[in-house]
Amino acid sequence: MFRFACQRLLPLEKTSIRRSVSHVDVDQCAVEVCRLVDRAAEHLRAASGQMRVFETKLNNKDLVTATDREIEELLIKGLRERFPEHVYIGEEGTAGASTGRKLTEEPTWIVDPIDGTTNFVHGFHCSCISVGFWLNKQPELAICHNPTLELIFTARRNRGAYLNGEPIRTSGQTELERSLIMQELNAANLERCEHRDILLTNAVGMLLKAHALRTTGSAVMDMCLVAMGAADGYYEFYPHAWDLAAGALLVREAGGVIMDPAGGDFDLMSRRVLAAATPQLGNQMVQLLGDRQIYHRRDDEPPPKKTNSNSKFK
Ligand code: IPD
Repeated sequence: MFRFACQRLLPLEKTSIRRSVSHVDVDQCAVEVCRLVDRAAEHLRAASGQMRVFETKLNNKDLVTATDREIEELLIKGLRERFPEHVYIGEEGTAGASTGRKLTEEPTWIVDPIDGTTNFVHGFHCSCISVGFWLNKQPELAICHNPTLELIFTARRNRGAYLNGEPIRTSGQTELERSLIMQELNAANLERCEHRDILLTNAVGMLLKAHALRTTGSAVMDMCLVAMGAADGYYEFYPHAWDLAAGALLVREAGGVIMDPAGGDFDLMSRRVLAAATPQLGNQMVQLLGDRQIYHRRDDEPPPKKTNSNSKFK
């Protein structure tokens, strides 16, 4: 199945992008990332059957496991061997601090080895490996693989979005009142009182207005659900670039919109996202949120001074 699912990312004809500084062969990137994600999924599947030992990062609800680090290393090391000149941004910092967290015109791989780590620790099957490839500040390739549920989402710019090799589209829903909305309620984000009020007030507002409010515990899964039309909208404050890099392309290629929760353009580094089946629905969600917005420290801003030995890169 993996091979069939990945066909959609692989070369149709010889397509490559010439740039002034270097030459990027997106086909080769697609072939390599498919090969590595397949291996990573095998690793995740094997680890899912074992007792999950975890550590904490920024606080006692921000979890990480050895599997997160192993998968990130497998992906980034493998990609880097093939594409040493590319830029790498990974959740667990195995890419090294030197690559930074800046989104530039350079070919950039953005990797979340396990999106939904808390789910993984608890054996709740909403976790996936998520890799996005960006070039000239635009998403080119996306692959999100949930090996436990056997869901493989792929997208390539201007070539559509797919689930297990079959084309997917957003629901086309235009009315918030008839929508199912995804919102992450991450306990780690509820620590600050003023943010807690905003998050909960927004959640209640969406719940009362829409058909239903749901949460999966994985930002990427939420976006995949919007892309396949199983959910109509999703918004979140605080997600990192690695949570969004692949999902953003999947939603776009499935016909949806991805924007800022206050309206305006989506900014991968802003730690803010709103995805919707249609622009009409997106605008209604923006209106409902109004000025109840959260602007957190951006991913491309320097991190605060270290307070915890485990919080090196987060
Ligand atoms: C987290 C999950 C969670 C979302 C957070 C993410 P992780 O990713 O996607 O649902 O609310 O914003 O950071 O830590 O499990 O990779």
